[in-house]
Amino acid sequence: MSAAEGVMPTSRGAGVGSNGSAHSRPVLIDIRNLVREYSIGGQTIRALDGVSLQIHHGEFVAIMGPSGSGKSTAMNMIGCLDTPTSGDYILDGYSVAQMSEDDLADLRNQKIGFVFQSFNLLPKTSALENVELPMMYAGVPRRERRRRAEEALVRVGLGERMHNRPNELSGGQQQRVSIARALVNNPALILADEPTGALDSRTTEDILRLFEELHEQGNTIVIVTHEMEVGEHAKRIVHFRDGNVEREEWTDEKAGDAR
Ligand SMILES: Nc1ncnc2c1ncn2[C@@H]1O[C@H](COP(=O)(O)OP(=O)(O)O)[C@@H](O)[C@H]1O
Ligand SMILES: [Mg+2]
Repeated sequence: MSAAEGVMPTSRGAGVGSNGSAHSRPVLIDIRNLVREYSIGGQTIRALDGVSLQIHHGEFVAIMGPSGSGKSTAMNMIGCLDTPTSGDYILDGYSVAQMSEDDLADLRNQKIGFVFQSFNLLPKTSALENVELPMMYAGVPRRERRRRAEEALVRVGLGERMHNRPNELSGGQQQRVSIARALVNNPALILADEPTGALDSRTTEDILRLFEELHEQGNTIVIVTHEMEVGEHAKRIVHFRDGNVEREEWTDEKAGDAR
């Protein structure tokens, strides 16, 4: 496939759901029959076993499941960090499954803001410069970079700590910097892998509240977690087991049932 073909949007991303609520917005993530196999020592391990999953713009989804159920493999697929053995993945209208490494990297930079368990900040660099980094890759001019990085840091409540380095910040503050970095290119998707895994329970609540705010402002958020207390902050929980979706749960409906 040529580079040009690789980044052509297809029509499937524009599908609109019918129930008029959370699903009234277009599909952002459209995964069909996704299989990912790993070969080790002549053995084949099927980490994803024909997963189908649709996530709409504006949703807040948690992917949950026991260890080995395929969460990380699914997150690598959704994040365009890996390509499947077979099956389709359309991200915001772009067909990802057969894309070249270069096109994948471009799409990733354009569409996705990542948040990791271990923050992944540059240690000798201020919060401000850490947040500016993705915009350097995107070729945003210096002044504009600075302005948008400041704005993102204010948005996550770190307006007073912009010039501090990561080792001068608490774990929760460092995760706020990394969330600001994820937001700053205005991505279609914020993808977080165990974002509270390194935080104490109070800080975990703070960070989850921040994700809720970002969701209320219209951002699409997918969190991968094995902790129910984290997952239940999302509006929809997709439970994985043995490399496939076992069941889905809508946390609003659960609240409704309790009434
Ligand atoms: N790079 C790899 N090479 C071989 N097997 C892998 C690799 N990554 C994951 N697996 C296997 O795929 C399955 C799913 O793993 P993973 O997606 O990491 O699950 P989870 O994140 O839910 O713990 C497991 O059986 C795991 O051992
Ligand atoms: Mg994992």
